[in-house]
Amino acid sequence: MKKIIIAIDGYSSCGKSTLAKSLASHLGYTYIDSGAMYRAVTLFLLEHSIKVEDQDRVQTALKDINIRFADNNHTLLNGRDVESEIRQMSVSNYVSEVAAVPEVRRAMVSQQQQMGEERGIVMDGRDIGTVVFPKAELKIFLTADPEIRARRRYDELAQKGQEATLEAVKANLTHRDHIDSTREDSPLRQAADAVIIDNTLLNREEQLDRAIFLARQAGA
Ligand code: CDP
Ligand code: CDP
Repeated sequence: MKKIIIAIDGYSSCGKSTLAKSLASHLGYTYIDSGAMYRAVTLFLLEHSIKVEDQDRVQTALKDINIRFADNNHTLLNGRDVESEIRQMSVSNYVSEVAAVPEVRRAMVSQQQQMGEERGIVMDGRDIGTVVFPKAELKIFLTADPEIRARRRYDELAQKGQEATLEAVKANLTHRDHIDSTREDSPLRQAADAVIIDNTLLNREEQLDRAIFLARQAGA
């Protein structure tokens, strides 16, 4: 069967990675979490006290950053498993500022495009259908009610034992969505040929069923 490229974009915490992971697993495809890459860069900058305004240090840092994904999908930053650290609020609170830097985007997009050379991938993010793979055979734009998104992320963090109030989570999602959709370089946009799935009232299985249907239609 033909291997296609599937792009899933949308606002923060609307279920992109949950859908992308399960769709990839169903199709026998590789799942790539592009947001994890921006989070890993952010963690590196925070650990080295590098501010995004310091362009020279950011440029140098990018040369020292190697991001890979382990077989269990965990994110490796220079060989170190940082999967849990990159999900902390300290990273969430700075990642959109980091992801708005054009040099950071250039470096990540180029790596993401290389990862897609073999095709048979499901990648989720903000600019996958518009910039990274504008010719992807299937583009899904996922949305959900902002209150539901905040509640789901809050529950997820609480389950992992990470401290955060619902208000703080909500504020973070609003802040990131604003920066992500208004930045100059590759802002979050729905691609003209993307299919919208609103999962406000859908559970994980229902959203997966819709995506499998669309993937089969697209030739997967
Ligand atoms: O999972 P969540 O929706 O919280 O965010 P994420 O997908 O892990 O992405 C974290 C941040 O990385 C986003 O808020 C964006 O600022 C940035 N990002 C981006 O700019 N472009 C992408 N393709 C993916 C993420
Ligand atoms: O990747 P993104 O930030 O868009 O969202 P996610 O991390 O996949 O999903 C955020 C939370 O919503 C997770 O805890 C998912 O299990 C949950 N979720 C849900 O409850 N129902 C859905 N239809 C989709 C996601």
